[in-house]
Amino acid sequence: VVTEAVVEAKARPEPRVKPSPTGRRTVKLGLLGCGTVGRGLLELIDRNRALIEERAGVRFEVTKILVRDLKKERPGVDRSLLTDRAEEVVANGCDIVVELLGGIEPARTFVARAIADGKSVVTANKALLASAGAELFRAAAKTGVRIGFEASVCAGIPIIRTLESGLVGNRVDTLCGILNGTSNFILTRMTELGESFESALQEAQKRGFAEADPSLDVDGHDAAQKLAILSELAFGVPIDAAAVKVEGIRNLEPEDFKAAKELGYVLKPIAFAQDTGDALDLRVHPAFLPVDHTLAHVRFEDNAVLVKGDAAGELIFRGKGAGSLPTASAVLSDIVDIARNGSAPFRFADAPAKPAAPDGHARFYIRFPVIDVPGVIGRIATALGSRGISISHASATLVPGKPGHGNVKILAHDCRASVLADTIDAVSRLPVLAGRPVAIRILEAN
Ligand code: NAP
Ligand code: HSE
Repeated sequence: VVTEAVVEAKARPEPRVKPSPTGRRTVKLGLLGCGTVGRGLLELIDRNRALIEERAGVRFEVTKILVRDLKKERPGVDRSLLTDRAEEVVANGCDIVVELLGGIEPARTFVARAIADGKSVVTANKALLASAGAELFRAAAKTGVRIGFEASVCAGIPIIRTLESGLVGNRVDTLCGILNGTSNFILTRMTELGESFESALQEAQKRGFAEADPSLDVDGHDAAQKLAILSELAFGVPIDAAAVKVEGIRNLEPEDFKAAKELGYVLKPIAFAQDTGDALDLRVHPAFLPVDHTLAHVRFEDNAVLVKGDAAGELIFRGKGAGSLPTASAVLSDIVDIARNGSAPFRFADAPAKPAAPDGHARFYIRFPVIDVPGVIGRIATALGSRGISISHASATLVPGKPGHGNVKILAHDCRASVLADTIDAVSRLPVLAGRPVAIRILEAN
């Protein structure tokens, strides 16, 4: 994502923000964006101004704020600061540019311009880091400025700083977590309130958790971008978010939630990364978790990351993974850190990239939408058995309001994911199949 950065880093420059005779510094902020996170940042600066000044010796002055629509209602925001011209933000004597636009362009162009102008940047934009991180970090290292990105993963949880410095003396080989607040919010509401996917997604959008393009959330790409950032920090090798195997949550049906409950599991959107030594296993997918699994209790927009360090042991980080103030909290922590400690360039290991690990074994739940004919379970079980997949449980239910249609639900014993995928493809061609099967990995207790 953001590797190869610091090859030609300049010597650590003097902080741009000079202390006053009282020891206080005034930090001028140029904001790109005043949406969910931008407004949260303004609110937080306002709310905790005295506290931050007291604790960190830093006071903030917002110089300009870039928005798209100058006429939009923005309660509590000083309208005289708004502009729709990015250059007024970047070239307005600010010390730090805070990018909270989202998406790749024009964010990439504005951030590159700020760096070229010698300004440190703070961003919450994982899509930008996934697509242009390497070039931006290289440019920042050359100019001697910094890019803070704590808010890009797990919003309010300080996981970037934890991996970067708190666990710096540990070898970490596995990360497992819930990295997308919107997906977790949707699955929690579908599980606990029986709400539909569409209605839960709309609520997540209303509360400001979802990306401008929510398919990034529900199809797993946002979590993949975050997993790539965390894995790069944890394993010290460059990682392309495109290397993460991704499955989203769109195809899950009420039937799957019911089956999870009956079988003693909870459906959760999981992100998993493991460095096997020679290769990396990186994946994002919905999973059945035993109800006593640590991540099973992470609900709504909360995120969590389980990390195992060879010295620190197993650690869990949990908190709000989306939302205005939790994200603003992370943005503010970067701003304060840059103001206090200057622009030490970020250092990524320049180890060679690693290939994808061959897929491992797991147990799976599989739902086959079928035409309800006698012997349908037997036909499917025989097809699975003929390819070496044995089953521990099989049941069939009718689809309410759809006469003649049903679902066959199978629990498969340990099998290779790729063998299962091929087998499902073959079973999908049976004439009794009425739709695309859904396979969900089962995680064992942690
Ligand atoms: P948002 O509510 O959609 O706000 C985006 C802001 O940027 C709006 O003020 C918008 O202007 C402005 N903007 C967008 N494109 C622009 C353009 N081309 N020119 C000028 N202004 C433009 O987004 P958000 O939820 O705050 O998210 C911002 C970033 O934080 C994203 O990278 C997101 O992934 C990340 N993030 C969000 C959360 C969260 O919970 N929301 C959590 C962690 C990270 P208008 O107001 O005029 O439309
Ligand atoms: N859309 C993202 C999520 C925002 O739901 O997790 C936080 O990065």
